[in-house]
Amino acid sequence: MELAMINDDVFPILKIDPAYLDRGIYFGDGVYEVLRSYDGQIFALDEHLERFDRSLREIWIDNIDIKEVRRKVLETYQKSGFGNARMYFHITRGSEPRNHLPGKNLNPNFFLTVNELLDKPGEKEHGIKVCTYPDLRWKRCDIKSLNLLPNVMAKMVAEKKGCYEAILVNDAGEITEGSGSAFFAVDAKQKALITRPLGSDILPSITRSVVVKIAKNCGLGIIEKNLTPAQAAQCEELIMAVTTKDIVPIVQFDGQTIGTGTCGKHTRALIEEFAKLARHR
Ligand code: PDD
Repeated sequence: MELAMINDDVFPILKIDPAYLDRGIYFGDGVYEVLRSYDGQIFALDEHLERFDRSLREIWIDNIDIKEVRRKVLETYQKSGFGNARMYFHITRGSEPRNHLPGKNLNPNFFLTVNELLDKPGEKEHGIKVCTYPDLRWKRCDIKSLNLLPNVMAKMVAEKKGCYEAILVNDAGEITEGSGSAFFAVDAKQKALITRPLGSDILPSITRSVVVKIAKNCGLGIIEKNLTPAQAAQCEELIMAVTTKDIVPIVQFDGQTIGTGTCGKHTRALIEEFAKLARHR
């Protein structure tokens, strides 16, 4: 009989809570999404569900009804009563005693949390500091997989340096994205936003896609190209984009002040345009 020890108690493995045997814990064998609501309305739900569906199919979990996922998300959100909320959910391949090769008849596990989101006052004006860190991730960062150890380590190093976010730099010396966010630079002379082209080395960020859409309303073109940290540090404005915070100015990059050290005018215009979309529907 296979045994398991949980903290200091021994049990037959078949008697323990299947949550302990989740392949998400053993292998990071699952995918997730994070979304948020503004004033009682979930933002970009269809886009998040579409990306989730794609992530599932890319790792061959293909027996999930996305309409059911939508129902679970809406039901829990409505029960929460939060106007501004962050929602997290994941699906793993299932629970079973550890074996790299998954069993044939596993039932996927669904897990979701919702918490009230309190936006940090002043953050959009004062901005955040970031530092660079090597991009140690795998070659399919377009999949929103539960394997986030390199992202966690990057974030811990950033915090040690007094920074909110780590901007990841690949072996070619180019910025890919943040440890948990998309990255933009403003080229004020060309009146354009610069961002890395989508590919398997970055997540197709929903916030990135919204920023790309609203840029023209702010008089900004889009240039999809790769930047080195040195090139980024010379740009007039830098931006972090992520579901939970939408658009936040980056005011310090590896210790170097960006622009005037507060939110720049193009970033402010984007923040206002984004708010129109998210808050006044
Ligand atoms: N992270 N890149 C990475 C590596 C991310 O983890 C995230 C989001 C983004 C931004 O994607 P979006 O605009 O769709 O939120 C980019 C979520 C919030 C997280 O892991 O908590």
